[in-house]
Amino acid sequence: MSFVSYSLSATVAVLAMMCSMTSCLPRDPLKSTVRVRFLVTVNDTWDPNGCMATVATPFLVAGMIHNETGQIQVGSCDHGPLDFSVQQGSDDGYSKMHVFLTFHSSVIEDASPPTCNIPWNGTYINPTENNMDSSPLPSCATADSREGYHMTYYWFRLLEWQFL
Ligand SMILES: *[C@@H]1O[C@H](CO)[C@@H](O)[C@H](O)[C@H]1NC(C)=O
Ligand SMILES: *[C@@H]1O[C@H](CO)[C@@H](O)[C@H](O)[C@H]1NC(C)=O
Ligand SMILES: *[C@@H]1O[C@H](CO)[C@@H](O)[C@H](O)[C@H]1NC(C)=O
Repeated sequence: MSFVSYSLSATVAVLAMMCSMTSCLPRDPLKSTVRVRFLVTVNDTWDPNGCMATVATPFLVAGMIHNETGQIQVGSCDHGPLDFSVQQGSDDGYSKMHVFLTFHSSVIEDASPPTCNIPWNGTYINPTENNMDSSPLPSCATADSREGYHMTYYWFRLLEWQFL
């Protein structure tokens, strides 16, 4: 998709939509342009000194393919493009959508890049009386290995979003 079609559809959607706040889903979220900032955490175990870092990404646009998005720098531990799409339904069977993401991690050279699904209702998660420590940020985690034995761990959280 070209930049022109993105900005055109975004303009039309903004005019048509009264509500684009983070707590408010548009009538058909999957037909709008979704921009998300993620928190990305990487834990490298192949590094003898260890390397663990968390960064907030800039706003990324759903549906961009990885050769069109910029590199995400995760401290000194990792870098690579992060792409994602928002799809109906979710892997927990309850949430309205899932965010299917792929991080083209520089650590993984000879295997598929890490992927992960975040169940999402277009909202933050409210704490419950029993679990007040849980993160309000919808998230998923995965692990992948370099050369089959050095595991690298990845966490992805939805920090902020916009439906345009
Ligand atoms: C990060 O990796 C190190 C080395 O394997 C491990 O000791 C540590 O528990 C990991 N931390 C988390 C939060 O996974
Ligand atoms: C990205 O890759 C696709 C095919 O995989 C190609 O059609 C497109 O031209 C590439 N875009 C850039 C900016 O390299
Ligand atoms: C989405 O809403 C459903 C129904 O209230 C709830 O069961 C589910 O846990 C929510 N999921 C998220 C990620 O907030």
